[in-house]
Amino acid sequence: MMPKKFNIANIPTPIQNHKFNGCSFLIKRDDLTGVELTGNKIRKLEYLLYDAKKNKADYIFTAGGDQSNHARATVIAAAMNGFKTKLFLWGKDKSTAEGNLFLDKVFGAEIQYLNKDEFFNVNEIMLREKEKFNKKGLNVYEIPAGGSSVLGIWGYINFMNELSKQIKLTKIKGIFTAAGSGGTSAGLLIGAAIFNLNLKIYAVNVLLPKDDLYNYIFNLTDACINKYKLNIKIRRENLIIVDGYSEEGYKNILPEKINVIKEFARQSGILFDPTYTGKAFYSYNDLFLTGMKKNEVLFVHTGGIYGAFSKRKEYL
Ligand SMILES: Cc1ncc(COP(=O)(O)O)c(C=O)c1O
Repeated sequence: MMPKKFNIANIPTPIQNHKFNGCSFLIKRDDLTGVELTGNKIRKLEYLLYDAKKNKADYIFTAGGDQSNHARATVIAAAMNGFKTKLFLWGKDKSTAEGNLFLDKVFGAEIQYLNKDEFFNVNEIMLREKEKFNKKGLNVYEIPAGGSSVLGIWGYINFMNELSKQIKLTKIKGIFTAAGSGGTSAGLLIGAAIFNLNLKIYAVNVLLPKDDLYNYIFNLTDACINKYKLNIKIRRENLIIVDGYSEEGYKNILPEKINVIKEFARQSGILFDPTYTGKAFYSYNDLFLTGMKKNEVLFVHTGGIYGAFSKRKEYL
């Protein structure tokens, strides 16, 4: 049975036709799910926070990088629904917080900063902190990094349902997205299987090595299929990890990518972020737009605009 959710996101998001490099293509504007809540994460949080409410949580714990869009969306959606939030962020505190971290602070998140090694054990750190909170009589609901759990990925299973009402699904050959924790891609794969579509899901790995992301995504799809007893079969060949487009590292972006981001922004009025969508669009342009007139792979703008404010020097 389909899990229940809050209705917080501004959905359905529009699908727009755009042209770049002489090629026309469709873009699904999941950056328009909200202003403060912008991006893909709120689709997952609708399910996760509903569950937190059901579990009578006082506090939400979650983790990510210091510019995590997921962390920022969690803090804000949690505030809307009466929860407090504690974040476990990979990074350092700065006197003038930028972008997502700025919003985390404005919306009142408690923050514990971790170095890279500590962040590797973030789930254990959250668990220990949760025990301390429990002793104080506080009920904590933990959300994994990126909101990518068997429940959270329903956000992108439901996305396919939304898409089916907007376009003829058989008209597109694939869906192209940035991938961090893999939940978006996992949800899309399940959603496509529910609609019995032989659709390619292109996932640009900006954080994890190719094989790790591949395994992570299929662990999520398998666990979700088991838990919710979904009568579907996923064709593994339909997941294509678009590797090699984050060679500068998760927290960095190469100047040639910034150039493509700015060129597209000035033609379309759409801004991509430095961590996810900028790298995804750069690879999409490279693989599917250059030298073509029309492309039938749908690009999903998964949000992230606040991340650009943490890279002002690079963008300018
Ligand atoms: C803007 C943006 N795009 C894409 C992603 C990737 O989504 P997922 O973690 O579900 O792979 C994220 C988060 O990780 C994100 O913040």
